[in-house]
Amino acid sequence: MTDRMNRRQAIAGIGLGSLGVAMSASRAASGEAPATSTPPTPVAYTLPPLPYKSLEPIIDDATLALHHDKHHAGYVKGANAALEALAKARETGDFALVKHWERELAFHASGHALHTLYWTSMWPGGRGESSPTYPTALDQAMEASFGPREKMLDQFAAATKAVEASGWGVLAWEPLSKRLVALQVEKHQDLTVWGCVPILVCDVWEHAYYLKYQNRRADYVDAWMGIIDWQSASERFEKAAR
Ligand SMILES: [Fe+2]
Repeated sequence: MTDRMNRRQAIAGIGLGSLGVAMSASRAASGEAPATSTPPTPVAYTLPPLPYKSLEPIIDDATLALHHDKHHAGYVKGANAALEALAKARETGDFALVKHWERELAFHASGHALHTLYWTSMWPGGRGESSPTYPTALDQAMEASFGPREKMLDQFAAATKAVEASGWGVLAWEPLSKRLVALQVEKHQDLTVWGCVPILVCDVWEHAYYLKYQNRRADYVDAWMGIIDWQSASERFEKAAR
C-alpha cells in the first residue's frame, strides 16, 4: 500500500482482494487477452504526514505526536529493514532467516498500512456524516450490509471494544459476498500485509497434499512450482497494479 493511497482505495484494498481473483476468472472464461502495462516501480515505505494538526480534545496532542512520530515511524523503518534483509537473502541465496524476516515484514508493513488508514479515518470533529450527496454509495452499502446506520455503528463499536488485547476494529468491503463487514483484527500482522492483493497462492494446508506427499510438504511445493498458471497471475497483477 502506498502513502498516496486515498481513503476509498485503502478501504477497498483491505481484506485480500478476492475481487481481482473473480475478475481474472471472468476474463479468462471470456477468452479476453490479458491487458499489458508498465508495472509500477517499487518504492520504499515512507511515513505520511498527518492530515491535520490536532484531534483535541478526543485525542490529546502528546499521544497523537508519539503515535505518529515514534510508533508509526517505527513500523516504516522496520518494514524497510525487512525488505532490505529479504533482498540480501535473495542475493546471497541464504534463506536461513526467511521465517524471521517474513514475520518482520508482515508485522511492520501491516502496522504501516493500518496506521496510514487510521490517520485518514479521523478528522477534527468528524466530517461527512451529513453529506450533501446523501446517501453516498458507502451509506447505501452500509444499509444493505447492516441495516439501519445505527446498527452498523453499534456492531462496529462493540466489536472494536471487544478486540482481545492489542488490535483494530475494521470496517471492510468483502468482495465475494459483496458486503461490508465489521472485523476484529487481533495484533495486526498474521503474516500478511493489510491492503495486499493476492496474485499467486499455494495452499499448504495438509489437505492439499497429504494423500500423495504425506509429511513431505517441501516436495509438494517444489512440484507445485512447475504447474503455476502465470497467465492468470499476470491478469490478476494487471488489475491490482492499475
Ligand atoms: Fe497504533
